Order: sequence, then structure tokens, then C-alpha cells
Amino acid sequence: MGSSIDIRLETLTGPRAGAAGSPRNGKAFFIETFGCQMNVHDSEKVAGVLLARGYQQVDQPDDADVVFFNTCSIREKAAQKVFSRLGKFRPGHAPEKVIGVLGCVAQQEGEEIFERAPWVSLVCGSASYRKLPDLLAQIEAGNRRVMGLDLDVDETFETELTRRDNPFRAYLTIIEGCDKACTYCVVPFTRGPERSRSSHAILEEVRQLVDFGYTEVQLLGQTVNSYRDPSPGRMTFAELLVAVAQVPGIRRVRFTTSHPRDFQPEIVQAIDAFPAICNHVHLPVQSGSTRVLAAMQRTYTREQYLEIIALIRGAKRPISITTDLIVGFPGETQADFEETLSLLDVAQFDGAFSFKFSPRPNTPAQHMEDSIPEEEKGRRLAVVQEKQRRIQLARHEALAGKTFEVLVDGRSSRADQWAGRTCCNRVLNFASPGANLLGQYVHVKVNRAGPNSLVGEHVT
Ligand code: SAH
Ligand code: SF4
Ligand code: F3S
Repeated sequence: MGSSIDIRLETLTGPRAGAAGSPRNGKAFFIETFGCQMNVHDSEKVAGVLLARGYQQVDQPDDADVVFFNTCSIREKAAQKVFSRLGKFRPGHAPEKVIGVLGCVAQQEGEEIFERAPWVSLVCGSASYRKLPDLLAQIEAGNRRVMGLDLDVDETFETELTRRDNPFRAYLTIIEGCDKACTYCVVPFTRGPERSRSSHAILEEVRQLVDFGYTEVQLLGQTVNSYRDPSPGRMTFAELLVAVAQVPGIRRVRFTTSHPRDFQPEIVQAIDAFPAICNHVHLPVQSGSTRVLAAMQRTYTREQYLEIIALIRGAKRPISITTDLIVGFPGETQADFEETLSLLDVAQFDGAFSFKFSPRPNTPAQHMEDSIPEEEKGRRLAVVQEKQRRIQLARHEALAGKTFEVLVDGRSSRADQWAGRTCCNRVLNFASPGANLLGQYVHVKVNRAGPNSLVGEHVT
């Protein structure tokens, strides 16, 4: 992160400043985050909880008394990465510190983490972060190993202070956990049952975010559109989108991840009616084969998914659609795989994250028969990715000559260009001499297209 962004952080988000008046107890913590946006946002809340208790946040583990890893367990590789990182803190390799494992690996592995890495002294899952100061106090009092793994919570994780890292886009979790039971997925185990935050509290926080200077918010949930308002207003998800978009000062409302099963047509109507609701839907399909979708327990068929795509494509505004795909699910035949390829042709996604199936502990798919060899999974992944790359390139090329409003949020890897995001969530890089455009909304005309980004020129 560049120094210019840090300056905005101090002035814009306030939360760092919010800790300034708190008593210092001299303890410094460092936190490294793996995984999805919900984890990124959880780390911001963890930082807030500790800052409010007088801890100091540092940017290097070497400067910290307490080092946290906020972990991801979605695929085996993600979980392995955490243990290799922990290896660096083995006694004798580094000065001794309190090492804490948070997040989905913590929740999933629990006490076993102490067996695999005995120098870890704290293990805490996402539903227990408010207890972190107490857990750290127990360590100071001489406890060697402390844990916070309760999942049977009926509250969401709301904090008095959140130390947001991104000065342009504020994440806001509106629904925690997941009640779906996709047979490959650890999330229902690692994040527990679905709990929605009240619309009242959400809107209150959005108003605060505007006071801090944010114009863009992103509502988060593993199945964000399964939101069920516990407050008397009983807002639907689409109504909540509209209410957030109407908060004075808010210019962009994003939301992720949508589940096809709960995708209401009202979401599309809301996007059409309110330009502040971003015209982008992330709608993971996972597979194009109804047979595989049933084995995954995704609760929709290929046809039902494509009906939703048609609904979204029928909107007045052009809405970009992105997705997630898993290849090599147990029993996926070549014919099933080809159905995924043909679905890509029909759906014409604007982006896709694709993964090789990874068997995960406690999930039903872990022991399913007809596993696909790694090599074949790799081949299918390459085929899917190449096909999608070509689709994206063609879709991007069709945007040449069009002008988009972007929120400038950094420099592109080519140092002479600014990088921004369109409302439809495309990355648009552009040259503009002189002024510092960071954090501004500017208009950019597209000149060139790549599969993952666009290049254009600043127009006034
Ligand atoms: N809640 C979201 C997905 C969260 S996980 C949804 O329902 O779509 C993000 C993505 O990781 C998933 O969409 C899926 O494509 C992938 N994924 C999850 N478990 C996986 C596994 N065991 N192996 C490979 N990919 C997996
Ligand atoms: Fe996992 Fe399915 Fe829940 Fe998504 S909907 S988090 S894939 S169980
Ligand atoms: Fe990973 Fe947990 Fe998110 S498993 S993807 S960090 S919910």
C-alpha cells in the first residue's frame, strides 16, 4: 500500500484515530489475513477490538508482541499455507511472541493446532473475536493455551470500533455463517449457522461510514441474499440494498456473494431503479451439470441457474455477472465437464474464479467415490480457464469506445497509470498527467481491452 493511501487512512476512516485517546498498555499486535473478503473484514474488526483496549497495530511481525494469522480452510492449499507460515515462528527460529490462529482453520482444527504447532498459544474462531482481549489477558496471567471456539451464537459480531484498511471501499458484514449444506464446503462448520444483522444497525453503520468519508460500501455474506432482517422492519435483501443506496453520501453499493437459490427478481429491479446499486452480481454456479449440482447439493438445476442469468441479462442496465466454478468434483464425467463448458458459452460471464475440487475434512464429498486424478483435474481447470479467458476478452473488446465512471483506488502495475473500478466492477487503467486522482470519481473512455482489465483515457 502506497504512502498516499496511508494518509487518507488517517484522515478518512477515523478508526485508527479513534484509538488515539485510549490508554496504551505497550502491547503491539500484527495480523496477517488469508481467505475471502469476510475474513479481511473480520481482521478489521479484530484490529478494532484490540485498538479499543489500548493495543497498538504494527505492520511487521518483528515489531509485534502478538502475531495473529486469520486463516482460510476452503481448500487444502489454503490451510497448508497457514501451517507453513506458522513454521517460521517455531521457537529458536524467531524471537518468542504470542502466536494466535484465528478464522476458519482455527474453528476447523481447534485443539489440534496446538499439537501440530505447540508454540501457538491462542486458537479462536470468528464467532468469538470479542473475547480476544480476555483470551490475551489469560495468556498474560500464565495460561499456556487458550481457545475461543463457541459457534452457538445468536448474535452477530458487532464491534464498537472497526479499523478499516481500504480507504475507498468499506466492507460491512450483513449476514454471518451459512445454512446451506454444499457437500464440498467447510464454511457451515467454520462459520456456523446463518445470523443476520438488523437493518437498523447496518444503516446506522453506513451513515457513520459516510461521516468517515466513504462513498462506497460492500455488503458481505457467504450467501448475502439469504439476508433475513431480525428487526421489526423485516426488510428484504432488495429493500436493504435500496435503503443503503439512499443514505445521503453513498454513491456505490456492492454486495457479495449471492446464492442462486435465494436470488430474488427484486434485486434486479433495485439495480435498475437505483444507479447507486452496482450493476454487478457474483453468482457462483459451481458446475454446468445438473447431475453434479445435485451431488454438490447446490439446490438448483442448470436450467434454473440459466433462468436467473436470463433475468439478469434482461435488465435495463447492463449488469456484469461473475461466478465460481469447481472442476473435478467426485464422479464428474467428461460429459458433465462439457456441460460446464457449454454453460460458459450460454452465460457469457464477465469473470470466473475456477478451482480444482479439494476434499475437505468433515464434508460429505470428502469420502465420495470416483475421485478424479489430480492430473485430470488440472487439465479440466486449464481448459475452463482458457475458454473463459477468451469469453472475457471478447466481452471486454466490445466495450471499446465506451465511457465509464471509475472510482480511482490506486496505481496500475504500469506506474504511469491510475487504476480504478467501474460500477460494474471492471478494472479500468488510464493515464492522466498531473493531479492526484486517488479516491476521486472520474470518467474514462475505453481504448483497449485485456481479459482481466481495460485500458482507457481520462475524459473531462
Ligand atoms: N458462499 C459462496 C462460496 C464461498 S467459498 C457460494 O455459495 O457460492 C468460494 C468458492 O470456493 C466457492 O464458490 C467454490 O467455488 C470454492 N470452493 C469451496 N469449497 C471448495 C472445495 N472443497 N474445493 C474446491 N473449491 C471449493
Ligand atoms: Fe459453502 Fe455452499 Fe454455504 Fe457457499 S452456500 S458457503 S459453497 S455451504
Ligand atoms: Fe476461507 Fe473461511 Fe472465507 S474458509 S473462503 S476464510 S469463510
